[in-house]
Amino acid sequence: MSPQIINTAVYPLDNLSSADARTWVAQLRARLDQDGSCILPKFVTAPALTKMVQQALSIAHLAYPGPTEVSPYFFNYQLGSGDDVPATHPLRHKGKRNLAQVAADLIPPEFLLSQLYRSDLMLDFLSAVTEKPVYRNQDPYQSLNISVMNQGGCQQWHFDSGTMVTTLLLQEPQAGGIFEYAPAIRSEEDENFDAVQAVLDGNSDRVRQNRLKAGTLSLFRGHYSLHRVTGVEGSRQRIQAILGYSTRPGLIGKKESSILHYGPRVAEIEANTPLYPE
Ligand SMILES: [Fe+2]
Repeated sequence: MSPQIINTAVYPLDNLSSADARTWVAQLRARLDQDGSCILPKFVTAPALTKMVQQALSIAHLAYPGPTEVSPYFFNYQLGSGDDVPATHPLRHKGKRNLAQVAADLIPPEFLLSQLYRSDLMLDFLSAVTEKPVYRNQDPYQSLNISVMNQGGCQQWHFDSGTMVTTLLLQEPQAGGIFEYAPAIRSEEDENFDAVQAVLDGNSDRVRQNRLKAGTLSLFRGHYSLHRVTGVEGSRQRIQAILGYSTRPGLIGKKESSILHYGPRVAEIEANTPLYPE
């Protein structure tokens, strides 16, 4: 029998209409608005976490490394490549990316992680926090990922394409692998390149750290907050699931991005039996 996944004894996702749950959700929303981030330790039960880690490790070898030198604006194609700005400008900055990802089509639907991702409790919870309907992404490769970082693994300073990112840390490394972020450093109106440049240059005035424990769910506004993962130390892998939810229904990413991140395997599938709609 499958263990219970969500730790509803701590987090009332199964009873969101109760007065206590409403107060709690309002607190989460306030924290997100203020900080760009909120974390829910022990979000999954201990037995579920144990099984999730076993299952993730059984397919970790399928993770594809993807690009290794990446701009903070990698996913913001409309900003251009920065050919017309000085070499020191953030648009031309390249940071080291050292991680591999298991694409959604390789994660079996019966895995507890897949069950959690598909759970309506998650949709209802995230909709309550954001006060908007939330949907599962429909991208066949990007909707649910497992990110694997070995010793030395890291992720460069960057912004995400989506406005909300939901992650679940499955396994923490012995040391390092710390999530750092500069909350709301940019907005729709202002890229704030000077402040971004300062962070890239090592200024930590605006930088906060989340030292996540395995089993923690994070909600994060990665589109406006510059963020990175510091180098993983020790032999234990940092394993994190990325759950693709969005307030935009039917969200599908770019095929080119999937080929880049999940490898030539994706190009082959798309050439023969495509998973993306025509
Ligand atoms: Fe990110």
